[in-house]
Amino acid sequence: TRRGGGAAFGFTPIAPVPASVDALTVPQGFRWTPIIRWGDPLFDRADAFDPHAQTAEKQARQFGYNNDYLDILVAPNGREAVLVANQEYTNAGIMFPPAASEEERLEQLRVSKAAHGLSVVELERRRKGEPWSYVVGARRNRRITADTTFVFDGPAAGSDLLKTVADPSGTHPVGTFGNCAGGTTPWGTILSGEENFNGYFRAVGTSDAHKRYGLTEKASSYGWEAVDPRFDARQPGYENEPNRFGWIVEVDPEAPDEAPVKHTAMGRFKHEGANVTISRSGHAVAYMGDDERFDYLYKFVSKNTFRKGNSARDRRHNKALLSEGSLYVARFTGDSPTSEILGTGALPSDGAFDGTGEWVALHVNGVSKVPGFTIDQVLVNTRLAADAVGATKMDRCEDVEPNPVSGRIYVACTNNTDRGKLGAKEGATEANPRNSNRDGHVVEITEARGDHTSTRFGWSILILAGDPAVNPLTYFAGFPADQVSPISCPDNLAFDSEGNLWISTDGAPGTIGYGDGLFRVPLEGPRRGQVQQFLSVPRDGETCGPVIHDRDGSVFVAVQHPGEDGSWGAQNSYFPDYIEPGSLRQGKWGGPRPSVVQVTRA
Ligand code: FEO
Ligand code: CA
Ligand code: CA
Ligand code: CA
Repeated sequence: TRRGGGAAFGFTPIAPVPASVDALTVPQGFRWTPIIRWGDPLFDRADAFDPHAQTAEKQARQFGYNNDYLDILVAPNGREAVLVANQEYTNAGIMFPPAASEEERLEQLRVSKAAHGLSVVELERRRKGEPWSYVVGARRNRRITADTTFVFDGPAAGSDLLKTVADPSGTHPVGTFGNCAGGTTPWGTILSGEENFNGYFRAVGTSDAHKRYGLTEKASSYGWEAVDPRFDARQPGYENEPNRFGWIVEVDPEAPDEAPVKHTAMGRFKHEGANVTISRSGHAVAYMGDDERFDYLYKFVSKNTFRKGNSARDRRHNKALLSEGSLYVARFTGDSPTSEILGTGALPSDGAFDGTGEWVALHVNGVSKVPGFTIDQVLVNTRLAADAVGATKMDRCEDVEPNPVSGRIYVACTNNTDRGKLGAKEGATEANPRNSNRDGHVVEITEARGDHTSTRFGWSILILAGDPAVNPLTYFAGFPADQVSPISCPDNLAFDSEGNLWISTDGAPGTIGYGDGLFRVPLEGPRRGQVQQFLSVPRDGETCGPVIHDRDGSVFVAVQHPGEDGSWGAQNSYFPDYIEPGSLRQGKWGGPRPSVVQVTRA
C-alpha cells in the first residue's frame, strides 16, 4: 500500500445524510455498537442510569455527558484497553425532566457539575477484531469532575493571579470543565483542553483580560453559582477563580489515585486540545489551538528531553516534560500579493494559498519574551501577550495535530463567519482566505528542516471546505471537487496507521444541511485531497473522538450532543438505544445519550 495514499482500509463512502435523520450511518459492510453511554455506571451496577432519579452522587460514579476527546489505549495482548473521554458540557433541558422543586433544581445543577470532566474506563474483549465492552468496577476506572482537586505546575503555579480565599497557595485548583479535544502523549498520558470556561462564571467582567476571555457580569450559562459560590467570581476572595481554568490538563490513566495536573507553562486560553510529538532532538513539542474567532495557533517545546524507557523513573521524568519549556505563537506570511486574496476562496495566481511562517516566542523556559509582561502575565493572560507580538488571527483553530507518519502538522480552522464583516477585526488573509468563512479550512504546516523545535515553517491550505455542488469556491488540494464528499466545519483530527488524515465535523447541519460526520483524506499520491465520508452521526449530534484502529478494522467516535435542539418530552433523538420514547429498560433509555461508539466490519 502507498504511504498515506488511502489504500489500506477499504470502504465505500456513504452518501451525505440530511441533518434531520436520527441515525448513525456507516458504510456498507460495517456495523456499529455503543461501548459506553452517558450515565452508564463505572464502579458498581447499583448506580444504574435512571433520568427520573438522577443524583450528583450517582453521576460522579457514571460516565459523563457530551463526550469529546477520545482515545482507546490497547494493551499489547490486544484484549484489554483503557478508554479515556473528555466530558465537555451538559444539555440540562434534555437530560432530565423539568425540576419540580427548588431542591430538585439545585440538585440538577450539582448533577451538571458531576457530568463534566473526564472518564477513564477499562475495556475488554475475547479476541482481536471483536467489539469491545467496558468493565464495571475495573481498577483504572475513574471520574474527574468539576469537583476534583488538581495540581498547578510550571512557572505560574503559586502566582498571585491564581490565588483564592479557598486556595491561598494558588497551587490546587478544583475541577475541570469545557474539556474539548485533547491528545495522548508518547508517554501514555492524556492531555485535555479547557475550552469555553468563561461560560461557567459570573465575573466583574471589566478588565482588559476579562473582556479578552469573554468573562462578563451576566449570570453564567450553567448557573453553578447557585450551588458553588466560587462560580460567582465577583465575590471577595474569588476574583481569580476564572484564572484557574483555560489550561491544558494532564491525566495519567495508569495512576487513578494521582491528582491530575494543569500545566501553566503551556499558557491559558480557550484551549481546544494539545498534541505532542517528539522532535529529532528528543524534545516534546505540543501543538495547540485557541478556538475563538480571530485567535491564535500555539506550540510548546519542552526544556528537557523524552526518555524512551517505561520504568517508574522514566515515566516520572516524562510526566514532567510539559512543566518546563517555551511557548510560541504562530505568525503566518503569505507569498501572493494581497490584491490577489479576494476573500472569496478564488486561488491566487501562483495556484496556492501558501507561504512561510514564524513561531514567535512568548516565553523561553519561563522567561517572558513579551515587553511589558511578567512571566505570570504571559501565562495567565496569554491572549494579551500574543496580541502584543502581532500573532496571526485565525479562523478558530480547533484540533492541531502532527501526522505521525510524515511529521507535517494539520490545523482544523472550523469557520469564522465574522471575517471580513463590516467592523470585523480583519478581512481575508492568505492563511484565512475566505470572508464569511462559513465552512472552514485545513492548513498544512511543514516545520523548517522537518525539525519540530524550529521557529520557522512553511504552510499551505490543504482544504477549503464546503459542498462543491453548490459552492464553486472550495478546494481539495487540487483533487477534482466533483469527486469528493461535501464537508463543512472541520473540528477533530486523527490519523490512521498509513498517515491518512481523518476529519470529524461540528456544524455541517447549519451550513450545508447534512449531518456532521467523519471523513478520510489521503495526503500523499494521486488521491491527495480526496475527501470521502465514512460515517454520519444522529440528529443534532457532533462527531468527536475519532480514533482509527485501521489495522484492527475498527473506528471509534464519540457522538456528542445528539438531540441537543430538542427538549424534554419533545426529544429530537433516540440515539443510541432507539427504544420507545421515554421508556427505560435494562439500562437502555428512550431518549438521547451521548455515547462512544465503535464501528467494525459486519
Ligand atoms: Fe469544543 Fe472548539 O470545540
Ligand atoms: Ca500563494
Ligand atoms: Ca472541538
Ligand atoms: Ca467545535
